[in-house]
Amino acid sequence: MRGVKTIARGALVTALAVALVLLVSGCVGDTPQSVNDPRADNAQKIWDLFMPIFWLSVGVFVIVQGIVIVALIRFRRRPDSPVPRAIHGNTKLEIAWTLAPALILAAIAVPTISTIADLAREPGPEALTVRVVGQQWWWAFEYPDSGVVTADELHVPVGRPVHLELKSKDIIHSFWVPKLAGKQDVVPGRTNRITFTADTPGEYSGQCAEFCGAKHANMKFRVIVQTPEEFEAWLAQQQQAAVEPEPGSIEAQGKEVFMSSGCVGCHTIKGTDAKGQLGPDLTHFGSRGLIAGGVLTNTPENLKAWVHDAPSIKPGQPGRPLGMPAFTGLTDEQVNALVAYLESLK
Ligand code: CUA
Repeated sequence: MRGVKTIARGALVTALAVALVLLVSGCVGDTPQSVNDPRADNAQKIWDLFMPIFWLSVGVFVIVQGIVIVALIRFRRRPDSPVPRAIHGNTKLEIAWTLAPALILAAIAVPTISTIADLAREPGPEALTVRVVGQQWWWAFEYPDSGVVTADELHVPVGRPVHLELKSKDIIHSFWVPKLAGKQDVVPGRTNRITFTADTPGEYSGQCAEFCGAKHANMKFRVIVQTPEEFEAWLAQQQQAAVEPEPGSIEAQGKEVFMSSGCVGCHTIKGTDAKGQLGPDLTHFGSRGLIAGGVLTNTPENLKAWVHDAPSIKPGQPGRPLGMPAFTGLTDEQVNALVAYLESLK
């Protein structure tokens, strides 16, 4: 019996230690998806609201648990304890414990409501509008003022408000870039909005934060914050038509494979016959750092593996063939040409 108790106690201590390590690991600042290192006004305002509420909660926790522990020890039953005296009501105490939580809740509500109103404010005319379309299981980014459409990577300029119009093509997703902006649900049939102004150039990872099916965890993206000059150069380059391969080159063979296989059914390459709408626009595919819904870096090897057998990289739902299918019918030579063509689309 004692052996079982020792094992149970050991298991409990181990479980608590693991839980504590996981809890404390959330405090590390410079991890890609940490909220405690904000790099935009939106995330900063949420952080500035979160911290005072957190410390207030710690205070409440310590006081309440302290009173419970003192009461448990000081007033515990002893063998010679007399039967306790029955007490009915204590007006002062009841007023105190009604008033105290009401004041604490008011202290939390006032800054919370003002932050919500602040974050919901419409930006000025200088803002950059980007339409974000969430879908199983990737993100499309459309720049309505310049006609640019891309996927998996959102480019924005530093120091300028970015106004995102969030839409969904299918079910509910949630747009979240921990270092730049708080979560916002992306709901079919309506447009939600987020505005943020990034303050530091760099790359920030984002993630769908609402469970949306088998590949939810693989619905990632990246926000690339650039200097205004870099951003304008990127935008100008994305507005160009797709690069046309040299006749007779491996890229030209790849284009032929693309246009004669299933690819055209789902993807658009501007300036060609490919006008599919189901998958990402590939007009400037070669200029992206991430592919496959943000799961893979864009290298010829990864793209080859993706074309050959996408479902094994992003496993889907049995019976729901959403996402990129496996192109097992293509020869190695055809896939190599296809990869060369797509990577040439800078
Ligand atoms: Cu989209 Cu989870």
